[in-house]
Amino acid sequence: MKTETTIQGLTASLSPARSSRKIIGFVPTMGNLHEGHLNLVREARRLCDVVVVSIFVNPIQFGPNEDFENYPRTLEHDSHLLAEVGCDIVFAPSVEQMYGHKPRLTNISVSDITNDLCGLQRPGHFDGVAVVVTKLFNMVQPNFAFFGQKDYQQLAVIRQFVRDLNIPLEVIGVPITRATDGLALSSRNGYLTEEQRKTAPIIFQSLKEAEQQLKQAVNLAEVLENIKQTLTQAGFIVDYVEARTLDLDKIEVFNQDVVLFVAAKLGTTRLIDNLQVKYTV
Ligand code: PAJ
Repeated sequence: MKTETTIQGLTASLSPARSSRKIIGFVPTMGNLHEGHLNLVREARRLCDVVVVSIFVNPIQFGPNEDFENYPRTLEHDSHLLAEVGCDIVFAPSVEQMYGHKPRLTNISVSDITNDLCGLQRPGHFDGVAVVVTKLFNMVQPNFAFFGQKDYQQLAVIRQFVRDLNIPLEVIGVPITRATDGLALSSRNGYLTEEQRKTAPIIFQSLKEAEQQLKQAVNLAEVLENIKQTLTQAGFIVDYVEARTLDLDKIEVFNQDVVLFVAAKLGTTRLIDNLQVKYTV
């Protein structure tokens, strides 16, 4: 496995794969890798000849009061994990390498689907993601790019600008990897105290409970309210509990497949999760 920290180095490392028309798979990450990330890499390994993983904590997608400075940076450990799952190239650029010294005057802003859910709590966040992912796509020029359904809205945003801008690659969404108690794996789980970690799986439990209620024809608004109450009683500060169609349209009645979304805080740690519920007649 090679590690590159410059765009030039990355291009040189990829040049043999490009000239022999190998299928290049790309997994963008911010590092501090866990099984959720590694499952994306395994999927890339399964479908592609050459697997590139980027590790870059992207400053422009963090809000002023978010955890950019403190975001865990564990490159050495991450590299061991990536070597084990068969990654070929790790791309770990510095902020300077990524953004240069001159001001950036170009933005990539997806409308509508970003003015909802996490976009409301995190203004500018998805622009920051869209910009960095586009830059990374241009650097790696992959055939396939892999993203987790854990960040369902992010995946939707990326699919949207890839389509709108004719970026020549295929986006693959990979299901959420969970701990055995149901908690969706996330780098931010590491911020939880022991006690909060015990409480955190209630998010997934409340989503599964909601699924059962929907299947028993309980009204959608009531189901969402029940999730909110369960979480609040368990000590969460709820940011939102919402239902959307698979395309992130608003939905009042459970008459098609839906995604249930939760964002809630335990102390200062904000956790997100979602669950797709199939509509069966
Ligand atoms: P990061 O949070 O490191 O996540 C990298 C990728 O791993 C994302 O596609 C995310 O959805 C996926 N992922 C994280 N936890 C997962 C889980 N439990 N199950 C499945 N997939 C999971 O998302 C980002 O970084 C950044 O916004 C990035 C796209 C790299 C742009 O900076």
